[in-house]
Amino acid sequence: MPRPKEWEAMAGPLVYDPYSYHIHEDPYPTYARLRAEAPVYYNAERNFYALSRYQDVRDAMQDWETFSSQGGVALEGSGKAPPMIIAMDPPRQTKLRRIISAAFTPRRVAELEPRVRQLAQTLLRPLVEQQDFDFIDDFSGKLPMAVIASLLGVPDSDHEMLRAWSDLVLHREPNDPRVTPAGIEAAGNLVRYFADTVEQRCRQPGSDLVSALVEAEVEGDRLSREEVLGFCYLLIIAGNETTTKMLGNAVALLYRYPEQRRRLVGEPSRIADAIEEVLRFEPSTQALARLATRDVGLHGRTIPRGARVMLLIGSANRDESAIARAGEFDAFRTPVAHLAFGVGTHFCLGASLARLEGRVSLEEILRIMPNYQIDFARSQRVHSANVRGYAHLPMMAGV
Ligand code: HEM
Repeated sequence: MPRPKEWEAMAGPLVYDPYSYHIHEDPYPTYARLRAEAPVYYNAERNFYALSRYQDVRDAMQDWETFSSQGGVALEGSGKAPPMIIAMDPPRQTKLRRIISAAFTPRRVAELEPRVRQLAQTLLRPLVEQQDFDFIDDFSGKLPMAVIASLLGVPDSDHEMLRAWSDLVLHREPNDPRVTPAGIEAAGNLVRYFADTVEQRCRQPGSDLVSALVEAEVEGDRLSREEVLGFCYLLIIAGNETTTKMLGNAVALLYRYPEQRRRLVGEPSRIADAIEEVLRFEPSTQALARLATRDVGLHGRTIPRGARVMLLIGSANRDESAIARAGEFDAFRTPVAHLAFGVGTHFCLGASLARLEGRVSLEEILRIMPNYQIDFARSQRVHSANVRGYAHLPMMAGV
């Protein structure tokens, strides 16, 4: 395989550490080396394997019997989190997923479009006057939370607090896999908050998703309170953080590629494809962990039974051997089968919603502030082993 250009720039030992701030800054040269030199990479210090080639990541996602989700999708495990389908295998996962999937069918999601558009407009309009604002604090952190929270029937006044807690759960200190003390406290707060919500909906059901989950029955079975709580927790963490970061990555990329942005302003019908390309090129979920349930032979190496394995979505999506011109950002590319939402039994339940939020937000941003500018010097990255994106992105409306 020819050596990618980035490879030349990076001699020295090949280390992939998902907790390294250096990796958070720019993981792609390391990914290129992993694909070329160590497609079955082993990190002895942290004791995990990593798969980085498109076909290997895709195959592993589709083989849940060999690459189990029990143990959680974070390398360090899911700790004291409530039971969540993302950390289960079929058949329980499939059964629980069926209960909630009715809320996220493309049709149900399409019905949310007017509300999402109105939310986007309400958030963006005052920012035009303000000129200098933080895209994450003032827009992308707010919109997905408002959508999920209204599905769950959570009052508007609690959104900021929930977002702050979920940010704290994901944050890591440099090179340290542990959830910070503030993160542990925040996880406890989230669990208690939703335990109270579930309790309240059990006593007094409404028309929201939590009430529907409390009352749902599948094959004669009901969800336990813990499982309803697990869904709420998962939707808040998986649904918000990833979408918030996707929106930030979208405006950042289009600022870096002004020609493509100008073209999109004139051809808004291509915005849905542009969002797919953002997801491919800079997926907000960069990596998912699995547990090997048997010895697996691959590329001349053996991943032993019981090993933790990281599936590197961010690398798979840039694998030139599977995706032509994978290293280039091309908002006008015909969408390819990227892995940003996973594939197989755990395929993202919120993919239609995330796509809707991405498309509508970008339509409104490019219409209301087509000449926005970003001050990258004052931007700040999220520091998490799984999620890639900005914690702060100072922006000017530029109108
Ligand atoms: C850009 C935004 C998003 C990205 C990149 C993303 C990514 C992913 C990925 C990669 C998975 C697969 C996990 C695995 O294979 O272990 C997943 C699962 C999941 N996502 Fe998303 N997601 C996004 C938005 C959302 C939203 C908006 C929601 C909810 C409304 C959501 C809810 C879920 C749930 C519940 C699962 C677990 C499904 C299962 O285990 O069966 N996600 N997501």
